[in-house]
Parts: sequence; structure tokens; C-alpha cells
Amino acid sequence: LLIVRRMSLFATKPIEPVDASQPLKRVLGATDLTLLGIGAIIGTGIFVLTGQAAAAHAGPAVVLSMIVAGVASALAAVCYAEFASSVPVAGSAYTYGYATLGELVAWIIGWDLVLEYALGAATVAVGWSGYVVSFMADIGITFPPLLSAAPGTAVPLADGTTVTALFNLPAILISTAATALLVVGIQESARVNAVIVVIKVAVVLLIIGLGGLFVSAANWQPFIPENTGTFGEYGWSGIMRGAGVIFFAYIGFDAVSTAAQESRHPQRDMPRGIIGSLVICTVLYVLVSGVMVGLVPYQQLGVPAPMAVAVDAARMQAAGSSWQALLDLMPFVVKLGAILGLSSTIIVQMMAQPRVFYAMSRDGLLPAWASRIHPRFRTPHLTTLIPGGIVIVASGFTPIGVLGDLVSIGTLFAFVIVSIGGIVLPRAGAALVR
Ligand code: ALA
Repeated sequence: LLIVRRMSLFATKPIEPVDASQPLKRVLGATDLTLLGIGAIIGTGIFVLTGQAAAAHAGPAVVLSMIVAGVASALAAVCYAEFASSVPVAGSAYTYGYATLGELVAWIIGWDLVLEYALGAATVAVGWSGYVVSFMADIGITFPPLLSAAPGTAVPLADGTTVTALFNLPAILISTAATALLVVGIQESARVNAVIVVIKVAVVLLIIGLGGLFVSAANWQPFIPENTGTFGEYGWSGIMRGAGVIFFAYIGFDAVSTAAQESRHPQRDMPRGIIGSLVICTVLYVLVSGVMVGLVPYQQLGVPAPMAVAVDAARMQAAGSSWQALLDLMPFVVKLGAILGLSSTIIVQMMAQPRVFYAMSRDGLLPAWASRIHPRFRTPHLTTLIPGGIVIVASGFTPIGVLGDLVSIGTLFAFVIVSIGGIVLPRAGAALVR
């Protein structure tokens, strides 16, 4: 009996051709998928972590950290793209694990993806909350500090004292809104995402273009600051530590792979969406980080809103020039862009999670009710609402540091499984052809 059980735990799932009768709506094309990828990728990482990686680890060579993290992500992306076109069903790493490494690995990775997608969305919701509270302060509205962070967090007040927060209300509100949107429809969600992506890419391009005019080459010297004697503090080890920190900024290209069953031509378009979004974001990241460390000495970038600091420096330099009026608006534009941009990251990460549970339920690893599709919206509404609840609670009640660590653990584990699966895939693929 034990042997039979062992065999079934490691049994792989046959790779089935795309099921034309499946109930999810096939509406997404290559552009939608690429925009979904960019929507998921550009978020807290570039708006917050780049500054911290430069200040604490890499200095101006954060540009090299960006390239290292981009190349590492590209290696995983190639595996995802290969799988997404060979196994074009919803479920991402879960489905790929099942097709190549067996049921036990698939079950573990299915739950592991809660760490990446659901808690990833919660992490970005907390970052979103920080930008909203700061934006409201800029326009003269004080958000109640008690309701602006995870329980127990000491929130500094204007008079220099601190107050202990109860929960993070803005994070709860954005997670609730994203859940509602995703229940209503994938097409509506993709449309909202597309609009937001255009805005956030425009903001990043504006920072690159306008900021690029005012960089000072002196800030790039020395490009690789000398190591302090401690591993990870500047020098080559600092570049690698910096790459580890900003790896978070690249997470999201894999979320595209969960929409395979809603793609019109998954075999052709999924690889385009996954690789295309990653390449576009890598180029933007390398340029924008180069501009940031060119505008201000890297030591000043270890703050919650480093882009705003960089833009402020450009504003000072532009004083009296014809660019001044435009640059005066930039701090406002950057914060608004971050608020909008982070909301699309939340939407796409939250879109990914139900599709993993949907695939698990279709395979019998979750109860059948989990793959029920809403009769009118044709979305997996129950598996959208339950992870939605997890995201709402996690974002309202957990500090960002704890969430971020869990997301990195979950994502790296998923990448490892998909990469091992990539080695096994040719054999599994041959079985399909037979
Ligand atoms: N890549 C996403 C971000 O940076 C998770 O927010």
C-alpha cells in the first residue's frame, strides 16, 4: 500500500492539450499579457528598494545590481516561458511542477505560491498605504496615524512623539477594492491595469528623461565604492547583496503565466508576455537607477521615497531654467504615479492567486467548489474572495518587513522548482507528443 501511495505522490500529470470548452474567458492577447507583466513587476521594488540597495550596499553600482538581478530573473523567465507555451493551462509553477515533478511537489508549490502572490499583494498594499498617507500629508490632509500601520508599529507624529498603530486601514481598503474588481472580470481588470501601466511607465520615463538632464557625473564617482571590510557593504559583495535586495523589484513576470487559460493564443503569446515584460522592465530599471544615483549622492537615497529625493535634487539644479515649472510638479507626479502604479501591482498579483487555486481544484488537490466559476462574470469568484480575505488581513495587520521576507522565500522556492522542472520538461514534453 505504501509503495502504491508513494508512486501516486510522485505521479506526474499528463500535459493535456488546451481545453476549448473550459469556462474561463479567452480574451487576452500578447499586448494584454505584456501589460499584465509590467503591471505586476513595476512596484514597491523600484519605487522604494532601489534607494535602499544603493545607500546600504552597492552605491552607484546599484546599476550593476539591477543587471545581475535582471539576468537571474531572465533565466527563470526563460523556464516559465518554455512551460507556458508547452503547458498552457492556468496555475503557473504549480501546474509546471505537477507536469514534471509530481503531485507532492505540486501540492507544496501550490501552497507556496500563496507566499508569493497573496502575500506579495499584501506587501505592495502596505507600500501603497505609505505613499497615500504621505501624499495626503502633502495636500494638507492628516490621515489618522493610529490607522496607518500594522499593530504595534510606532508611527512618528509631527510634534516628535510617536503613537502605536492599531491597523493599516488604507492597505485594507486597496486590497478590498482589488478583490472586488477581480471578481467582476478579467477583462475589466486587464483594462484597468493597461491604463495604469501606461501612466506608471510614463512617470518612470519622465524621471529618466527629465532627471537625465541634470545628473552630475561626480555622483557616479567612485562607481563601485570600496568595500568597508564587511561582506555586502559596497565593493563586489555589495553589488551582489544589492541584487538580492532589488530582486523583489523583478517579481511579477511569472504572474503572467497564471492567465494562460484566459489567453487567446497561449502557445504564441505567453512567452511574448513573460519575456517582453521582463525585458522592458529591466531596461527601465537600469536607466532609472542610473539617473537616481546620478542626481544625488547615493548615501542620501536610503529613505522610504528615494525617487522623490532624486527628483527634488533635479528641481534644485533646474532653478531658473526653462525646466523649472515642469520639475516643480515632479514630486507630486512621482507620488501619484507610485500610488497608481502600486495599485496595478496589487491587482495583478491578486489575479494570479485564484488561478493557482482554480488549477489545484480542477486536479482534485482542493475541493471541487474551489473551481466554481461565477455564472455572470465567468471568474473563479470563490477562490478570488478567499485569498482576497488573506490579503486584506495580512496587509492590515502585518509589518512590511515580515511580509517582504515571506514573499522572497515563496518566490525563490517557486523559481527553483520551475528551473528543475525545466530540466525534466523535454522528457515530459516528449510524452505529450507521443
Ligand atoms: N515587483 C513587484 C514590486 O516591486 C512585486 O512591487
